[in-house]
Amino acid sequence: MKKLQNKHIVLAITGGIAAYKSADLVRRLQDAGASVRVVMTEAATGFVTPLTFQALAGQPVLVDENTSAANGMTHIELARWADLVLVAPATADFIARLIHGRADDLVAALCLATSAPVAVAPAMNQQMWENPATQANIRLLDQRGIHRFGPAQGSQACGETGFGRMLEPLDLVEQCTTLFDTGLLQGVSVLITAGPTQEPIDPVRVITNLSSGKMGYAVAQAALDAGASVTLVSGPTCLTPPQRAKVIPVQTAQQMYDAVHEKLDNTDIFIGVAAVSDYRVAQPADAKIKKDADELSLVLVKNPDILASVAASDPRPFCVGFAAETDHLEGYAREKLEQKRLDMIAANMVGNGQGIGADDNALLLLTPRSKVELTRAAKSQLARQFIEHVAKHYLEQKNPA
Ligand code: CTP
Repeated sequence: MKKLQNKHIVLAITGGIAAYKSADLVRRLQDAGASVRVVMTEAATGFVTPLTFQALAGQPVLVDENTSAANGMTHIELARWADLVLVAPATADFIARLIHGRADDLVAALCLATSAPVAVAPAMNQQMWENPATQANIRLLDQRGIHRFGPAQGSQACGETGFGRMLEPLDLVEQCTTLFDTGLLQGVSVLITAGPTQEPIDPVRVITNLSSGKMGYAVAQAALDAGASVTLVSGPTCLTPPQRAKVIPVQTAQQMYDAVHEKLDNTDIFIGVAAVSDYRVAQPADAKIKKDADELSLVLVKNPDILASVAASDPRPFCVGFAAETDHLEGYAREKLEQKRLDMIAANMVGNGQGIGADDNALLLLTPRSKVELTRAAKSQLARQFIEHVAKHYLEQKNPA
């Protein structure tokens, strides 16, 4: 498995001579499995042309707001798409602007607009690096949780020697990898349900729902990245499951229930992301139903609630549910948290193009004693933040202070 498989990386290039190394960086990130989109400051285009990066990334390059329409992705969409924004090279001037929350060019605006991690690879003359103003800015970067890769020491393009060289592309790829491998759930086994279920009406017809499985699969990937061993019990989807996940394909809610309970003994954390059909047809027809009658009634009976049954088992894993609601989001989600006796619930609005089937989402995370909002972002990004919260609460419960 490639180290950055399926990761969306926005490579932002600011105006320093090290920009020539960023061309190689694009290739190295792609070799590691990442999808790369490039944005540049105007100053950066003086060192390397956008065409170079367009050819390497196979995608249009964003230079300023005016180019966004042609590219079909605005800086806000890019900010949501990104799993990581990597600014390489990051000049002293750019770092100063980043620290002050400026949004006066596309790269700075992107860094403000994203909820993905931002990492900078500083590159500047050693005197500029040592300057107390730069050092104060770097301390602020570190305090604010902006990741910093380098700089390295060595000879510089200006003929001087010292700190300020941008890290080599392969070192930067390595640093990106460590950001995703959090190790938060090392040695923990996580069981996840995902996708829709299908309840047969007859041999060719089913009752199902619009769930795409994207959120469940993203949660599985994020749990794997955090070091967990993951079993994914999945209803029918068109998605490629994450490598390294043990996948159990199922069709009906009852099959999902059986697969989950079969695995439960070895599970530390259960996360129910699936949109499980609440009802099934009492007596599915053995042969295809003909359209002879003007009206047709189906008798439906209730399916077992998988999540509630897991939460009621003894011993039980740490239990996390999802609540997809069209209204009264927090109220309904809190009711489900309490009624199903969960440790955490992730609530999201659905309908009108939101949630189901979409590539991005927003979540409200509720535990019996806390509430956190995760703002709208790509499902992969959101899943990573979600898993960080799950890991925190799971570890707190397991090792109370
Ligand atoms: N769930 C489940 N088994 C079911 C129904 C739901 O495991 N038979 C899980 C879902 O995977 C999700 C949570 O329960 O984690 C909430 O699902 P949701 O469909 O929002 O709620 P329901 O409990 O079905 O309630 P309602 O449909 O009335 O909103």
